[in-house]
Amino acid sequence: MELYIDTANLDEIKQANDMGVLDGVTTNPSLIAKEKTDYGKRLAQICEVVEGPVSAEVIAIDFDGMMKEGRERAKIADNIVVKLPCTVDGVKACKAFTDEGVRTNLTLCFQPLQALLVAKAGAFLVSPFIGRVDDIAEDGMDLIRKIRAIYDNYGYETKLLAASIRHPKHIVDCALAGADVCTVPFNVIQQMMKHPLTDSGLEKFVADYKKAFG
Ligand code: E4P
Repeated sequence: MELYIDTANLDEIKQANDMGVLDGVTTNPSLIAKEKTDYGKRLAQICEVVEGPVSAEVIAIDFDGMMKEGRERAKIADNIVVKLPCTVDGVKACKAFTDEGVRTNLTLCFQPLQALLVAKAGAFLVSPFIGRVDDIAEDGMDLIRKIRAIYDNYGYETKLLAASIRHPKHIVDCALAGADVCTVPFNVIQQMMKHPLTDSGLEKFVADYKKAFG
């Protein structure tokens, strides 16, 4: 399973990239707003650090606006993926970008039929938001399993990117359900290598060795 980081913070991206296991980055308008910096400039900085796909979301919600913004974003670097919403205009823009050879990530996916249509339009990635589904007392993982089954039934090549990840259990469940990618906030990436028995075991190994050999 590929691991992306879900942030526009350059320091977090550099730290995750230094671990040697980072496959890509997703950003969105809320994440860039937290950084209080120019979106285009930050995307260029991210693309200098990370070789894998970097999702750049459009702010426009109409077809023409999405095409204009997406084309500008795509010029920033070869690894930019234009992120579009799962709307009718978004799926139209997805098809148009696919025809132009530009990769897309269809975001804000909350039901399997959105995932089916964007796969037909040639999306490179689809982003079901599992945390936000859980937030309304529904089952985010059920959405992942349904999309996986539909894509496998018909051989769609769109990658299933599990988004809105809130905790390590989401990642384990996504890996078991066959998600192609998880995009994970930095604080959750840090938790992925944590276990209290690893820490206490390591402490004891070092202490025993020092006691015997100084
Ligand atoms: C995905 O690409 C989005 O940026 C993100 O995962 C949204 O997560 P949230 O529900 O925690 O805002």
